[in-house]
Amino acid sequence: MIRVCSLSDLADGKPFAVEVDDVAIVLVRRGDEVHALRDECSHASIALSEGETSRKGLECWLHGSCFDLRTGAPSAPPATEPVAVYPVAIDGDDVLVDVTKTLN
Ligand code: FES
Repeated sequence: MIRVCSLSDLADGKPFAVEVDDVAIVLVRRGDEVHALRDECSHASIALSEGETSRKGLECWLHGSCFDLRTGAPSAPPATEPVAVYPVAIDGDDVLVDVTKTLN
């Protein structure tokens, strides 16, 4: 796992873009949990970190697809394919991500 930022860098619900080993990742904090997804919409390669979060998950600003933060599955169309979700660990104020494996 690689340290990517401090927990205090993450505002609740606000997407935060980081790059880990040449992989673009978007982090989303929800309370004490942090989710790490591939920062690329599965519909048309738009950075999901430029979108917003809602009750449905992380929303792509271009056509409105939403992705579940835990599973990466599309929760609103037009996307039909999931985005990769990566393991996250929190160690004190450090947020660590492993991009060598996915959770989905
Ligand atoms: S590019 Fe994301 S929904 Fe179309």
